Amino acid sequence: MSSTDTAVSTVITGISTLVTNDPSLGDGSPLGLVRDAAVVIEGDRVVWTGESSKAPATDNRVDAGGRAVLPGFVDSHSHLLFAGDRTEEFNARMSGRAYSAGGIRTTVAATRAASDEELEAGLVRHLAEALRQGTTTFETKSGYGLTVADEARALRIAARHTDEVTYLGAHIVSPDFADDPAAYVDLVTGEMLDACAPHARWIDVFCEKGAFDGDQARAILTAGRARGLHPRIHANQLSYGPGVRLAVELDAASADHCTHLTDADVDALASGRTVATLLPGAEFSTRAAWPDARRLLDAGVTVALSTDCNPGSSFTSSVPFCVALAVRDMGMTPDEAVWSATAGGAAALRRDDIGRLAPGARADLLLLDAPSHVHLAYRPGVPLVSQVWRRGVREV
Ligand code: NIG
Ligand code: FE
Repeated sequence: MSSTDTAVSTVITGISTLVTNDPSLGDGSPLGLVRDAAVVIEGDRVVWTGESSKAPATDNRVDAGGRAVLPGFVDSHSHLLFAGDRTEEFNARMSGRAYSAGGIRTTVAATRAASDEELEAGLVRHLAEALRQGTTTFETKSGYGLTVADEARALRIAARHTDEVTYLGAHIVSPDFADDPAAYVDLVTGEMLDACAPHARWIDVFCEKGAFDGDQARAILTAGRARGLHPRIHANQLSYGPGVRLAVELDAASADHCTHLTDADVDALASGRTVATLLPGAEFSTRAAWPDARRLLDAGVTVALSTDCNPGSSFTSSVPFCVALAVRDMGMTPDEAVWSATAGGAAALRRDDIGRLAPGARADLLLLDAPSHVHLAYRPGVPLVSQVWRRGVREV
């Protein structure tokens, strides 16, 4: 493209390291790194990336001042439709008590009692927090209502803020159905699905002892698929189980958590398209053993990194924090962790318009107050994200 072809909206120059996630660009690595780079944005799209010296001339120029530029983070797993607080439960865990999915009931009670305005205000607050830390796309789930009306309203509110909305009526068996879990599965696959499907893109199940077993999860995901929802699964978080293999069998976009994996689980993931989404905030906040990212990567599995932001098991909205944990404790290199938090998240949402900075991609990007993306892990806990652009507009 030359500067006379089309009106160039903005050129960002003076980029020390540009992460394109396009191996055909730059150094040819999976991150497609370009040094001393520029990005040209037109409208909401990237139209050109390359070396600064070759960038088309334009008046509308932003100098990155030697900062690194990355695709905006794609947080493909969060639970932001909730009310209330579980500080006490966290405190008890940090004094030695184990995490239990039963804590979800505390949030269900608080969420049911909240007004629509309160629920939406909480969502907006957490989204703003995430945006400041570089998240430009997020997925979020219902799952703290567990009645037809409460699940549907959570999804309705979520859909005002993101296209990546997930119906998780099958988070746990509703306390109202404690004596008849089969009837709750009937509700989740029947009337509740009817009310929720119009507002969601995805259907998710917590496949775990104490939540839903493999047969129930299969029935729920299959029913969702028949209504046009695509499956994803909370799988193998607290124990070994059928979730990961079921995810691959159903061609789910993602199996999330993947903390307890057999060799057969890893082989299944390596053989299919299902992304393994790792959520180190959950292991951090529950003092559990880390998922083994190295084992998955070495087997050729596509790995995504996300926050799992929720009030119980992982109350962080910070992708940079998860990147640092993944590098320190899960065997990932900084390059791999950054790829997983951007392109990996996009893969887990089956999207190719985000998570990369190449011509045609959405102009979602962040500037780091650092010379390279490696500093996200090298300087943990430091607020390095200095600008965030979404759809070609600077928002932070
Ligand atoms: O992804 N695993 C199930 N759901 C959440 C936890 C929800 C909660 O404890 O409130 C998770 O970790
Ligand atoms: Fe989760």
